[in-house]
Amino acid sequence: MTAQVRGVAAPTRAQVPAGTLRTDRWWLLPAATTVGLLTFVVYGGFRAFQQQYFFADERYLTPFYSPCVSLGCASEPGSAHFGMFLPDHPLIPYAALSLPFLLVFRLTCYYYRKAYYRSVWIAPAACAVPEPHAKYTGETRFPLILQNAHRYLFYLTVIISLINTYDAIVAFRHPDDGFVVGIGNVVLLANVVLLWCYTLSCHSCRHVMGGRLTHFSKHPVRYRIWTWISALNTRHATFAWITLGTLVVTDLYVLLVASGTITDLRLVG
Ligand code: FES
Repeated sequence: MTAQVRGVAAPTRAQVPAGTLRTDRWWLLPAATTVGLLTFVVYGGFRAFQQQYFFADERYLTPFYSPCVSLGCASEPGSAHFGMFLPDHPLIPYAALSLPFLLVFRLTCYYYRKAYYRSVWIAPAACAVPEPHAKYTGETRFPLILQNAHRYLFYLTVIISLINTYDAIVAFRHPDDGFVVGIGNVVLLANVVLLWCYTLSCHSCRHVMGGRLTHFSKHPVRYRIWTWISALNTRHATFAWITLGTLVVTDLYVLLVASGTITDLRLVG
């Protein structure tokens, strides 16, 4: 018995010998997406395991190390707001309690799925460009069915976003100088606001707010919140990219100040 040919090579499809008939630079977007995602993964991976320069001016904690719960956080007094209990080991990030969840949250995000299915997995890379995979089972089977965990990870991410917010607020207090405002505060605050925009514009959040309701008129508060979330949701892809950028910028700022490469400019205090 011969194997059934599927996809663009199936006998019922028009037989086009060329790989694609598109002559524009269709590969540009998937290539740029791959480079963008890869850059973030490499940078984030390096920083998560560097275990250095994560706390600056005795108050700025980078989001890559939040919450700092390793015994190693003791090297920077004041950086651990929620206790230190994980062993200090080169292979255990100081924020091992949050980073894996944040990574999987982004990995299973509906927007990022679209981005890496098209760019990294090229399934397909663009319209009228055939995919190289012989069969497609989508997210109905293992392992991609696990993408459904996203809706549960949303709740954990809300908790982590609250922790990031706490970090940004306590950063206004210097242990010796009291209330101060520096450029670092502006950077941390902007990052946390944009992180909230990304988290609240999540499709799962929209569903939590307004999903499974038969009559919006009977739930005016949920309906109102749902309309706000829906407005944010239209920008979800934008927030997904912006927050990758702000996370790197915020971390880089803390790294540069902590390493003494630059000085944090004080605006108040
Ligand atoms: Fe992107 Fe939930 S859909 S974070």
